[in-house]
Amino acid sequence: MKDKYKIKLVPPDLDRQIVENSLEQFSDSIKDPNRSLRKFESTICDFTGSRFALVVSSGTAALHLAMLLLDIKEEDEVICPTFTFAATINTISYVGAHPVIIDSERQTWNMDPELLVKAIEDRVSMNKLPKAVMITHTYGMPARLDELLEICDHYNLPVIEDAAGSLGSSYNEKSVGTFGEIGVISFNYNKIITTAGGGVLLSHNPKHIERAQYLATQAKLPHDFYVHEEIGYNYQLNGFAAELGLNQFSTLKNRIAKKRAIYRRYVEALDDIEAIKFLPESTPGVSNRWLTTITLENNPQAKALKNHLEEKSIEARFLWNPMHRQPVFKKFPSYLSGVSDDLFSSGLALPSGTGLEIDEQEEVINGVREFFETSY
Ligand SMILES: Cc1ncc(COP(=O)(O)O)c(C=O)c1O
Repeated sequence: MKDKYKIKLVPPDLDRQIVENSLEQFSDSIKDPNRSLRKFESTICDFTGSRFALVVSSGTAALHLAMLLLDIKEEDEVICPTFTFAATINTISYVGAHPVIIDSERQTWNMDPELLVKAIEDRVSMNKLPKAVMITHTYGMPARLDELLEICDHYNLPVIEDAAGSLGSSYNEKSVGTFGEIGVISFNYNKIITTAGGGVLLSHNPKHIERAQYLATQAKLPHDFYVHEEIGYNYQLNGFAAELGLNQFSTLKNRIAKKRAIYRRYVEALDDIEAIKFLPESTPGVSNRWLTTITLENNPQAKALKNHLEEKSIEARFLWNPMHRQPVFKKFPSYLSGVSDDLFSSGLALPSGTGLEIDEQEEVINGVREFFETSY
């Protein structure tokens, strides 16, 4: 079947050579697949500065494990952002807990610290102190961690950082995903490094990693025969996936530089179009620019521009449709400011794959310019 798009949003940057090398390394280690997993974990720890890591079958699995590690149970409340992918908030429901949904601020598009305080105080006044706070670093942009962590510290609330798309992003020169009690990174198909499905749970606490490994491998107790005192899961990453990840890790710095160069090129080429706004850098956060995102002055333009690019076989995507608008989550409490609604109705993500060639990016830029020249 022919691809719908000539230029895709964020395709995997995997060539045949990487796959073949990974297969060869996998076949060398087939008798001891754990060797590949542990090597992948130590490479991730070296890069991120996390003390410990457990690679698993997806970012979603890692988030689910995070819920279990923090002993989040039925009827507990967990604070989470509205401007995120459903996986973040789904995992709260996996353990029967309830999300308390918070809107974004305009500087980084991540959780608004003022609304966080408001929500915690409101929940406390109802005698419902939340059990944890999930923070997403959306599209690679670090959240305002100084403020958010201070608030969580003040109320003694553990933080889970959903850094699914943010491998290579940092805050005060430290990798995101390593600030909270638990951090999560995804290696799914569209991520900066892909294991064709996979993720990692990060923590500085060895007890979390030990327990996560036990839960992720069917909760088997060490006996001569199987004894299960708890429900377990099959969330292990496979050895081939680990080799795939390892083979891309050597090029990670280069991939981050490429993503950031793609963002800069878009800014330089389109900055004179007043109707387009980019998400600027937000020090001390440095984004890996997993996706270059824009907002348009006039909301209906986002759909028209998307259609215009689509006619040229270029894929652009709407920003997250906020969780408080999703039929499945509408019933849960939310603390809103309208920011995520604005972002959804006025925003688009532009092609940002690390394999994007300069002439392909030129095509995207020309398509965007043409849209503004003809629609004004
Ligand atoms: C913000 C966010 N959280 C969680 C996930 C889930 O990761 P995975 O697809 O590896 O399960 C994603 C996936 O893209 C994501 O974007």
